[in-house]
Amino acid sequence: MAGPIKIAVIGAGLIGPRHAQTVAADSNALLSAIVDLTSAGEELARKLKVPYYKTVADLLQSADKPDGAIICTPNHTHVAVGLELVRGGVNILVEKPISTDIESGQELVRTAQELGVKVLVGHHRRFNSYMLAAKDVVASGRIGDLVAINGIWATYKPLDYFDPPAVWRRAKTGGVILINLIHEIDLMHYLLGPITRVYAEPIPSRRGFDADEGAAITLRFKSGAVGSFLLSDNVPSPHNFEAGTGENPLIPQAGKDFYRLFGSEATLSVPDLTIWSYANTTVKSWLSPLTTEEVTVDVKTPFESQLAHFIKVIKGAEEPSCSGADGLRALIVCDALKQSLETGAPVDVASPL
Ligand SMILES: NC(=O)c1ccc[n+]([C@@H]2O[C@H](COP(=O)([O-])OP(=O)(O)OC[C@H]3O[C@@H](n4cnc5c(N)ncnc54)[C@H](O)[C@@H]3O)[C@@H](O)[C@H]2O)c1
Ligand SMILES: *[C@@H]1O[C@H](CO)[C@@H](O)[C@H](O)[C@H]1NC(C)=O
Ligand SMILES: *[C@@H]1O[C@H](CO)[C@@H](O)[C@H](O)[C@H]1NC(C)=O
Repeated sequence: MAGPIKIAVIGAGLIGPRHAQTVAADSNALLSAIVDLTSAGEELARKLKVPYYKTVADLLQSADKPDGAIICTPNHTHVAVGLELVRGGVNILVEKPISTDIESGQELVRTAQELGVKVLVGHHRRFNSYMLAAKDVVASGRIGDLVAINGIWATYKPLDYFDPPAVWRRAKTGGVILINLIHEIDLMHYLLGPITRVYAEPIPSRRGFDADEGAAITLRFKSGAVGSFLLSDNVPSPHNFEAGTGENPLIPQAGKDFYRLFGSEATLSVPDLTIWSYANTTVKSWLSPLTTEEVTVDVKTPFESQLAHFIKVIKGAEEPSCSGADGLRALIVCDALKQSLETGAPVDVASPL
């Protein structure tokens, strides 16, 4: 494929415009169209001076049919919109979660596989600069074989977060596992590979809603590594991804650690990216002094890095960082955790496809 890659944005609500602006600003891409059932799409298209279509069907029949599309429609529509696009031969970047149930998500991933169309899932935290740097450290072998991870996502959601029109957040499906932990699960998959077994002990509920408020979690990875993770949305704490990285402008940065990766040669703390190892590696012993090294990070916007990756995926130059199977895997692990909370027993994680 020569020249810029044509990319359309489907859905012009909250997140669609951010993706559209990122595409418009990328010299390797051409924003080919905006699609939205409502006038919000028409307004955004006019602002960005690109064609507007009301439906995906209209887009596919037009001269503006793109090479790739970014799906920014509500969660329950991801599979239907995605199927229409992949059947039309259009590669997709689908916002997370890939689907609201596992079966329909599998249908989307299988259909794309059969048609040879690429699927990238928008777990954009994989493109957070601190996570990219952590992944580089792991891949370089500097901390040795990964033995364990200790993670925390703890923060305090005020009561008005659960007020109308967001009362769905009080229900079983509105809890911290599906809304927040799913990102952490995807990051742990990114760093350590697939999770194969989970167990969760609920933390005490402070609100009394049906929604889960957190858990102490045990994880086993396919590699043999293990993990322990503390999840809570009902305690004031600086130990969470958002406060640690400062990625969400609405959440003040505290810069405290939220992951510790334990390897056979060293421990890596994230996001400070401090590597702890013995000063003299020939005397690896708890009696020896430890030394620290801090990895420097070049902070870039994850949306831009994710788009650059999507363009390379469309060109066939890179494999999807977060594939359709990875998107499903994150959902399946969340499902297994909820099951563990209900049964009080460990749950094996099914394979995604
Ligand atoms: N990665 C992130 O940081 C992030 C942040 C927010 C939202 N999201 C995800 O992005 C998705 C969209 O979220 P949002 O908050 O922007 O939603 P939204 O409700 O604000 O916007 C959705 C838009 O899609 C349009 N739409 C619905 N069905 C359509 C269809 N079949 N064809 C064309 N347009 C259609 C609607 O008219 C609406 O304008 C969700 O899946 C959400 O989980 C991701
Ligand atoms: C679905 O999308 C909304 C954005 O509209 C998001 O806030 C929410 O976390 C998603 N729901 C689930 C269950 O993942
Ligand atoms: C490391 O320890 C070994 C064994 O005590 C010693 O021989 C060696 O000189 C030490 N290396 C350094 C750089 O201090």
